[in-house]
Amino acid sequence: MKWKRTYKCGELRKEHIDQEVILAGWVAYRRDHGGLIFIDLRDRSGITQIRIDPSSHAYEDAKRLRAEFVVAFKGTVQPRPQGMVNPRLATGEIEVSATAIEVLNSALTPPFPVNSENGASEDLRLKYRYLDLRRPKMQKILQTRHCMYQIVRNYFSEKGFLEIETPFLMKSTPEGARDYLVPSRVWKGRFFALPQSPQTYKQLLMIAGFDRYFQIVRCFRDEDLRADRQPEFTQIDVEMSFINEEDIYTTVEELMAKLMQAILQLDIETPIQRIPYDVAMNRYGSDKPDLRFGLEIENITDFVKSCDFKVFSDTARSGGFIGGFAVPEGGKYSRKQIDDLTAWLADLGAKGLVAIKIKDGDWEGSLVKYFSDELRKMINSKLAAKSGDILFLIADTKERALAILGELRLKMAEMENYIQPNVYKLAWIVDFPLFEYSEEEGRYVARHHPFTSPKAEDVAKTLTDPANVKARAYDLILNGNEIAGGSIRIHDRDVQAGMFQALGIRDEEAKEKFGFLLEALEYGAPPHGGIAFGFDRLVMLLTGCNSIRDVIAFPKTASAMSLMDGSPGYVRPEQLDELGLSLKIKN
Ligand code: AMO
Repeated sequence: MKWKRTYKCGELRKEHIDQEVILAGWVAYRRDHGGLIFIDLRDRSGITQIRIDPSSHAYEDAKRLRAEFVVAFKGTVQPRPQGMVNPRLATGEIEVSATAIEVLNSALTPPFPVNSENGASEDLRLKYRYLDLRRPKMQKILQTRHCMYQIVRNYFSEKGFLEIETPFLMKSTPEGARDYLVPSRVWKGRFFALPQSPQTYKQLLMIAGFDRYFQIVRCFRDEDLRADRQPEFTQIDVEMSFINEEDIYTTVEELMAKLMQAILQLDIETPIQRIPYDVAMNRYGSDKPDLRFGLEIENITDFVKSCDFKVFSDTARSGGFIGGFAVPEGGKYSRKQIDDLTAWLADLGAKGLVAIKIKDGDWEGSLVKYFSDELRKMINSKLAAKSGDILFLIADTKERALAILGELRLKMAEMENYIQPNVYKLAWIVDFPLFEYSEEEGRYVARHHPFTSPKAEDVAKTLTDPANVKARAYDLILNGNEIAGGSIRIHDRDVQAGMFQALGIRDEEAKEKFGFLLEALEYGAPPHGGIAFGFDRLVMLLTGCNSIRDVIAFPKTASAMSLMDGSPGYVRPEQLDELGLSLKIKN
């Protein structure tokens, strides 16, 4: 490039009029107006209109310009003529009258328009991610993400936390998601695993005396992907010593307040409300409830124990659960809409959906005869149902009924447009169970991870009554998404050994997998605890995106591959030989 640019494309204003400037960027649009050529020149700061008169030295070259050509212009800043001011553009009051041009590169016609948000499937966007990232929306998202990194780093640094990197090549761990494995060439037949999180390392850092640690760190999990999951994602990882839950809550709340203020100019209410896990499950059918709308679940099991409707009375008598909610003005739903909902719920495992419309203060339809007047009144009053509403009731095991109602709740909010834009509802979910029973594995597994401390009063029950042991664990939720999770850790070797025992991890296995941590716990481990944010999820929510793929520069698809470079790829037989590996499948 001959020249040095003097301004970026989003910077020029009225006060620059008459200045000679040099701009460089991409051709967003070219318009020919009876001899005059206009170019919208774009870089990541914005767009400036360049005017090229037929008398300009730039004219002949400007005629050859096409979308996405890379070009530099020298020219003078001039006011736009009367009536030509563009108030939607930051530079809309001026234009640059070009005196010279340097065409820096040509470009093929892009597979989708770079200047508009439309016109491209996600697969195409991911294949040509560098073009997709040129789009103003994506540039803005990555700009916001950048700001969030800086806020996080400054915040923790000012609070005396040290940023310390932990290894990517580590030992495979038995709990949690599936590991990504990396074969060792030097130690043939042995593998590193990529970290699912720096969990063990941050605890070792506490034992090493770095009493406040944080890291913005990549984590790797080979799990089924969804809109809010990627095989590699970023955490804001935090650990502190000599603290309890309250210290974690205040540290996180202050950070959240800073982020929400900086990104959304929104003040959050602190302290953030805390909802015990059991309450969340009973009221919303989810441990990450969306609190932006009501439709809270009511339990009517006791009411219907001896009613004549056998589906309900049998379920109630056999220890099941009957409950649901009233959808205001749901009386308008057609038979077809209700059938569609029922079919949708059946796919989620529901045995059926009882839907009752309320008219003139009482139930409509064939079910009336199975419920006494008084019982119908009691149910209406429990569900706060009014004329014109519809009752949705589910009878099943408690766990399944609540899970299904949780999903139905979200579906109805979507159908009824209950969710207002720019509403952000945060909550801590607390008092989690320490274990959950895995039918698949036929044993209890850690709900959070095996280093999470039981509540002091429940330690004795770890082996005798695992189902009722509560954990010192907490999740932070935002608009129905889990954005962070953590716990106070076990810092006592015997309690940790008891935990492994309760999880059915044999002594030998525990030693083999976590021996280093167990040993470290014997060398003066301070009481400690921490949390990790899903940073991509947080960026997704604060930028109003629906998928974390939109806030990651180079994400994988939902089937865990990169459409741009075609990874995962095949490797040459020699590479496998070198690693001492051979493939069971033929490529
Ligand atoms: P956890 O497994 O809950 O805890 O992870 C912390 C947060 O990371 C985010 N997250 C993900 N984001 C994108 N894609 C994924 N596949 C994915 N998996 C998780 C979530 C989640 O809340 N070491 C512990 C933390 C601790 O105890 O301090 C941990 O990793 O937002």
